[in-house]
This record gives sequence, C-alpha cells and structure tokens, in this order.
Amino acid sequence: VNQSLTATPVHQSTRISEYAARNPGTIDLTVGLPSYGPPAIIRAALREALDRGGDEATAHDRYAPVRGVAALREAIADLYARTSRMSIDPSSEIVVTHGAAGGLWLAVLTATDPADEVLLLDPCYMLYEPIVTVLGRVAVRVPTAGDNGFSPDPDTVRSRVSPRTRLMVLNSPANPTGTVLEAPLLVELAVGARIAYDEVLDAFSYAAPHSRLHMLAPDVSITINSLSKRFGMAGWRIGWMIADPAFIAEAAKAQTFNTLSVSHIVQQASAVGLADRSTDAEVAGHAETIRRQGERFLADLESVPLIEPPRVAGGFYAFVNVGRLARHLDPLWDPGSGAPAGQIVADALLATVQVAVVPGPAFGAYGRDYIRISFPGPVDRLDEAVRRLRIAAGQGTQAQERAPCG
Ligand SMILES: Cc1ncc(COP(=O)(O)O)c(C=O)c1O
Repeated sequence: VNQSLTATPVHQSTRISEYAARNPGTIDLTVGLPSYGPPAIIRAALREALDRGGDEATAHDRYAPVRGVAALREAIADLYARTSRMSIDPSSEIVVTHGAAGGLWLAVLTATDPADEVLLLDPCYMLYEPIVTVLGRVAVRVPTAGDNGFSPDPDTVRSRVSPRTRLMVLNSPANPTGTVLEAPLLVELAVGARIAYDEVLDAFSYAAPHSRLHMLAPDVSITINSLSKRFGMAGWRIGWMIADPAFIAEAAKAQTFNTLSVSHIVQQASAVGLADRSTDAEVAGHAETIRRQGERFLADLESVPLIEPPRVAGGFYAFVNVGRLARHLDPLWDPGSGAPAGQIVADALLATVQVAVVPGPAFGAYGRDYIRISFPGPVDRLDEAVRRLRIAAGQGTQAQERAPCG
C-alpha cells in the first residue's frame, strides 16, 4: 500500500462530524455546506433527461466526452463571460472535473512530477496537503498570521521558493480563514510557478468583488471551481478546471487515465442551470442571506467572553482565536508544550456543551490557536451554539445548559 497514504489519517473534521451524527443533541458546526439545494431548473432538467430515452440507451447512458459535455463547457465559459467579461474557449481551455476536489488532484498531477515542491499556505483547506503528499510531491508550507488576516506575504512566499517549486495552491475566498485575495496581491504572488486557484467560494466574496486570477495572470493560472457551493449541489460532483490549451490537453489525458469522464446526465442537467441567467440572481440571494447570517453570528460572538470574533471577508467560515479560552478551560495548560489551543477548545466544546467545531491545527500548524466554525446552517442552531459557547466560557447557567438543542 502507498506509504504516504497509510501515513495520512482520515481528516479530523470527518471524524468529528460522524461523531456529531451519532450523538443527537450535538450542534455540528463542522460542515461548510449551505442549506439550500440546486435550482429548480436543474432538478427539472435531470427529471426530463431521465425520462427521455425510456428503455433505449440515450447519449446520457454512454460515456461523456473526457473534457465534459459541450453544453456544460459552453455554460461555464458563459458564466465567466457574463460575470467577469472573461473570454474562455470552451473547446480548448476547460475540462469538467469531479467537483473541485477532482480538479485539484488533476491540477497537482498535471503540473508536477514526483518530488516536486508545491507551496501551500498555512493554514489552508485540509485536502491540499494530502493530495500533494499522496501523489508523492512535497508540500512546502508558507506561514500566514491571524493579525494580518491570514493574507500571504509575497516576500515570505518567495523565501519558500526553491528550484523544485512547480506549483502554488491559493484559495479565495478562503476556507478556513475567510480571507479574500484582492487583485494587486494576486499579481504579486503570480511570479514563476503555476498557481492552482481554488475559487469554489467565488459567489461568497463580501468585502471585495471576487478577483479572477485567470484575468490577471493567464500564463500561470489553473482555475478550479465547482457547483458545490454556488448551487448547493456538492453531492452531484460537478466541477471544472480552466487553464491554457496545452495544460488542459494534458489534464484531459490524465482524466482519461483516471476516471474516463464525469456523469453525463448530471453534466447535462447542470448545464441547463448554469446557462440560465436567472440562477445568477438566485445565487446572489443565497450569498446575501449567508453574508447577513455570518454578520449576525459574528456580532453575537462578541458576547462570548475570552474569544476574538474574526473579520470574515468571504466564505462560510469563522476562524476564531481561542488562545484565552483554552487557558480558561484548562488552567494548567502550557501553550509551549501542551496540545494546541484550538485542539483543547474543540475537544472541550464537544465534551461539555456538545458543540462540534474543527480544531484549527487540522488546517496547518499556524492554525494552532484557532477553531473553525461554519455558519451557513439554520439561524436557531447558531443562536443555540452561541448560548452554549457562553456557558463554556463561564457565563451561562446550568438551567440554560440543559435547554434542548434547536
Ligand atoms: C476551499 C475548498 N475547495 C474545494 C472544496 C471541495 O469542493 P467540491 O465539492 O467541489 O469537490 C471545498 C469543499 O468544502 C472547499 O471548501
């Protein structure tokens, strides 16, 4: 068995959310998924496509083209044209992937050889490092700091570049930090190595309009995106990669060797929704709801002693510094030699007030003092979570503690 694989544990957030599912009464704030589902037009298109052939095989029952069905690639190009005035050739610059996760595998596989180095910000989304290491590449972390909004410093990035550096992975808006990378910084970061730019949260950029790396640095940009968050259809597994034609040709070859293609019928139904401009307004409405929900949640967090509500520039997550709360929960805790504050607090919240969050160290060593709280869920659940956090921080009462979970 691949030694890198055996050495890589299942991610903590998966284990924690499985635990939460087995323990009713636990408020699970680990999973970063919206509560809305796909637009009605996509569901209708799928139903229609299912019934079309009767017992006869239709195109949907056969393999899709390896780069994706033409209608979906055209709809993807049109999305970028109408939202960002980008001109992308659907026949040569796009490959449809199994979600953004499939696109990330494909990007690392296509852009690098074994033992090449891949720059990852620390903290960053938890799939990046396992993808890099399981493929036999070397992950090189670039530290970022909370007091700087976890924004990467170009000089620090440059200091980590070596002759073996082939790729950097960037994500904006960022999971877990809520950081948004604006155009001038992206331009500064686009020096040399290719950049896999994960923009799955592009519709949820609050502090500034989302910047498209592909427009700023087309020669190095490998854009990764999906419908998982935009349309609330993570289970349908539709994503895409956009890059220059030569790179896409190699990536398509790699996809042939890997999965042959993505589900034909799901691509066709997705194309109908993405091509229909009414879905832009629907997505903007969802994003505004989540933004307001996040704003309210962060304001409520102000009432919890010993924590510092963060600034969230985009996305679904609050990355909260809990260094002082860790000391309160464990007065003997030694920040130098003890477990990271984020781990202590996440464990304690689960055990004492049944609130499940992801420990910051799961995203990298520089997340050690943090927990990640996902906020797109139902508002009453967030209200109850804040009440329980106040109890954990020593400000709630026993009577409140026993109140049922909303
Ligand atoms: C930053 C980021 N990238 C990629 C993914 C995976 O997305 P997909 O469902 O499109 O594979 C996620 C999922 O949460 C994410 O947060």
